[in-house]
Amino acid sequence: MSYNLLKGKKGIIFGALDENSIAWRTALKCHEEGAQLVLTNAPVALRMGEINKLAEAVKAPVIGADVTNMDDLKKLFEESMKHFGGGIDFILHSIGMSLNMRKGKSYTEIDYEWNKKTLDISAMSLHRVLRTAWDLDALNEGASVVALTYIAAQRVFPDYNEMADAKALLEGVTRSFGYYYGVKKKVRVNTVSQSPTRTTAGSGVKGFDGFISYAEKMSPLGNASADECAGYLATLFSDLTKMVTMQNLFHDGGFSYTGVTEAVINQMEK
Ligand SMILES: NC(=O)c1ccc[n+]([C@@H]2O[C@H](COP(=O)([O-])OP(=O)(O)OC[C@H]3O[C@@H](n4cnc5c(N)ncnc54)[C@H](O)[C@@H]3O)[C@@H](O)[C@H]2O)c1
Repeated sequence: MSYNLLKGKKGIIFGALDENSIAWRTALKCHEEGAQLVLTNAPVALRMGEINKLAEAVKAPVIGADVTNMDDLKKLFEESMKHFGGGIDFILHSIGMSLNMRKGKSYTEIDYEWNKKTLDISAMSLHRVLRTAWDLDALNEGASVVALTYIAAQRVFPDYNEMADAKALLEGVTRSFGYYYGVKKKVRVNTVSQSPTRTTAGSGVKGFDGFISYAEKMSPLGNASADECAGYLATLFSDLTKMVTMQNLFHDGGFSYTGVTEAVINQMEK
């Protein structure tokens, strides 16, 4: 069911890799809510070709950009503004990658060169995106920018490894740039802290099956799905949330504020 929440709005969606991606589900939802979209991902991800199916479904062009490359980002924003015939109303940053996790390094033995790349792709990329939009004056007054994060930024989840630090930095950039962009143009910048979700990035976390069923048992509402996340994101891109900025917003079925549940106690007593 559509509420036309995003009628007339124009947005860029980063990070739709395949149909499980949170960005993919969000693009479908934003399209359903009336938005016009541009899809983007790293050139290497575009070579998989999956994104073309999404592009067709949401009638959006695909513009490649490695989010760590400022020239790519400039081209992406310039081409998007040309396509839309004007400024941009919302952006989804749905990007994460850990080189150390991918190469099997534990937190206490990380390689610092890989770590720099992880922080650049997963966190400073939000700064790069906002900075590019700022320099080109690409965002409309009151635009909304959301990046996806995880509660390992606040509490320790050992297997989340260096991504915990990347998410803490991402949330820091959200607050700091949110301040400047709010003052300059009433632009909102927030993070949404999502439940563990079965996607390519999610499944890269060691012990993910245990992780996801523990979170399910620890959340009064259960884990939030990618489609439910997409619905929440649509509200944040809409005009109904114009005074929400610089926040880390939990979308996790209540996990973040739950000490223990009967389901977990029952499991422990077995
Ligand atoms: N899946 C989960 O359990 C979960 C939970 C909380 C938050 N998140 C966050 O949600 C976001 C989306 O992840 P997802 O779970 O949908 O997985 P996903 O693997 O589908 O998406 C990650 C995306 O990042 C893109 N990416 C990687 N390097 C890039 C680069 N250099 N330039 C441009 N794009 C690049 C990938 O191509 C991919 O599309 C990530 O920030 C992730 O950390 C995921």
